[in-house]
Amino acid sequence: MADLGFDGKVAIVTGAGGGLGREHSLLLASRGALVVVNDVGGAVDGTGGDATPGQLVVDEIKTAGGEAVLDTHTVATPEGGAAIVQTAIDAFGRVDIVVNNAGILRDKSFHNLTPEFVDPVIDVHLRGAFNVTQPAWVHMRGQSYGRVIVTASSAGIFGNFGQANYGAAKMGLVGLAHVLAQEGERYNIKANAVAPVAGTRMTREIFGDLADKLAPGLVSPVVAWLAHEDCPVSGHIYSVGGGRVARVFVAEGPGYMRSDAPLTIENVRDHFDEIERIDDFTIMRNATDELRLLAKLLS
Ligand code: NAI
Repeated sequence: MADLGFDGKVAIVTGAGGGLGREHSLLLASRGALVVVNDVGGAVDGTGGDATPGQLVVDEIKTAGGEAVLDTHTVATPEGGAAIVQTAIDAFGRVDIVVNNAGILRDKSFHNLTPEFVDPVIDVHLRGAFNVTQPAWVHMRGQSYGRVIVTASSAGIFGNFGQANYGAAKMGLVGLAHVLAQEGERYNIKANAVAPVAGTRMTREIFGDLADKLAPGLVSPVVAWLAHEDCPVSGHIYSVGGGRVARVFVAEGPGYMRSDAPLTIENVRDHFDEIERIDDFTIMRNATDELRLLAKLLS
């Protein structure tokens, strides 16, 4: 089969000045995408700013014969998000792909969290995806084409000590992707999530020697596939790292149903093993699927 290309497609990659975003941008550009390299160039905790990292990625893409422009607006405000999308429109006249990748960390155990540690993390990760994807969505709907990727994390999907702020934002992004998948369906807009595992400045200390085997470039082929027009799925989540790719999913067990009398606390206690069963499960396509299942059981 032929190699996959992105000729003429315009991609916004947020947080593309380093780490994963840089690799996503380089790969997409090497396959013909026109890339908006967005990055504020701040520290891992979100403080500071510097246009240099993003500019270096733009230069690298251009040196390799690709096309890219720099954007240094923050994803953390609606104005910043609108400006990032405007950069794509001004430079390339359209937007086909949004890779929501920008991120910061302000880890603290839950009891020590203050708004100063919570708000910026939610603003960059969760609100950031709203801020950038919403103005892009207008164009995607108008052209009946779009690909949205959000960057989730195992910290939210499975939980991780000391990351309540980050984990909640990351799992929020999964919810966003699920809903965008529904709302985008009739406009050929697909939305999916990746949960990367990669050795970057954000994780180097945590992963130690393992970081060498977790090159961020090993995540980008999955992001690029989900950004491609041939991508067959929407509303899916993938764990990606070190060359491994696996689907992660939210599913529902068969459950217990009491239909001959009202459910009581004691019923719940006595049937808890049944309620907890996961040996058989259903992946709902949407919330209506679950409602249909319940309506069937109640009829
Ligand atoms: P990184 O720190 O190298 O990259 C994050 C980039 O986002 C930085 O270049 C930073 O300047 C930029 N950024 C931060 N705030 C921004 C803002 N307000 N507007 C625009 N750009 C902003 O870290 P890494 O590892 O490449 O992270 C990329 C994404 O992947 C993040 O969302 C992170 O949470 C996520 N992730 C990474 C994992 C890993 O193993 N490296 C694991 C799970 C998730």
